Amino acid sequence: MKINDLFDVCGLAVLITGGASGIGLAYAQAMAQNGARIMVADINPETLAATVTTLRAHGAEVEGETVDVTERADLDRVVAATVARYGRIDVAFVNAGISGGPGFLSADKSRLPERSLEAIPDELWTRVLETNLTSVFRSFQALVPQMKLQGGGRIIVTSSISATKTEIHVGSAYVASKAGVAQFVRQAALELAKFNILVNAIAPGPVITNIGGGRLKASDARKPFERACPMHEVASPDDLKGAAIYLASKASRFVTGAQIVVDGGVTLGEAD
Ligand SMILES: NC(=O)c1ccc[n+]([C@@H]2O[C@H](COP(=O)([O-])OP(=O)(O)OC[C@H]3O[C@@H](n4cnc5c(N)ncnc54)[C@H](O)[C@@H]3O)[C@@H](O)[C@H]2O)c1
Repeated sequence: MKINDLFDVCGLAVLITGGASGIGLAYAQAMAQNGARIMVADINPETLAATVTTLRAHGAEVEGETVDVTERADLDRVVAATVARYGRIDVAFVNAGISGGPGFLSADKSRLPERSLEAIPDELWTRVLETNLTSVFRSFQALVPQMKLQGGGRIIVTSSISATKTEIHVGSAYVASKAGVAQFVRQAALELAKFNILVNAIAPGPVITNIGGGRLKASDARKPFERACPMHEVASPDDLKGAAIYLASKASRFVTGAQIVVDGGVTLGEAD
């Protein structure tokens, strides 16, 4: 089989949550630039409109919907809008998420008392769990009936290496939310395999995006993450495109319940 056929995403109907920035935007670009028909869903109407305009200017078939992924009604609306526009949903990237704030140590590894676990506000914990974990459950509830109806589909969830790795510079609510996401993906993959619905995760290490106020855009803030990476880099959203195309295409036909780690070796441990 030729690579062009194996990794072809042309014509696929693809829904991307959190698709107006960072990793979701990279997924949207990878799909749109290779002929997929996409629906970008995001809570931010300005960046959403800009994303749709830019992708259309490059000739892609793109729609956008303003959606809050914590709201089941919004998710039902965007699923219905995608089906109304494209007739089906072949691939859904369940990607939207937020930071839980910095971890309990600063860049120089001194303690941050205001970031200790007893200081985490209840509101922050609830918001992070709602946005990163409960939204994934609600997204599946909205997507799965349509995918069963059409005889299958693929759901690709953005988890994180924080799902399995402890963190000093990442907040506890975030780590807990992504651990829940990772196991939910495996459980959903098991339940949905019979219906030809493949469920997989992409687990990035640190990536320069707008998450957490875009803190990784500052070179000082990146330093501890670069030190912790055997490749001594923080990823760009472009680095996630290969995994996205693989999981959306025939190349991964027999892959479900997997997690593709894209982290420059961070989870291997520190090196020189
Ligand atoms: N950047 C990293 O270092 C990193 C590492 C591992 C995993 N991730 C995960 O990648 C995913 C994307 O994050 P990113 O880094 O690209 O961040 P980002 O802030 O650049 O993009 C996230 C997008 O999601 C949207 N969004 C936020 N809350 C939403 C909501 N309630 N409903 C709909 N849309 C919402 C935002 O408006 C934004 O466009 C998240 O799940 C994040 O946890 C990020």
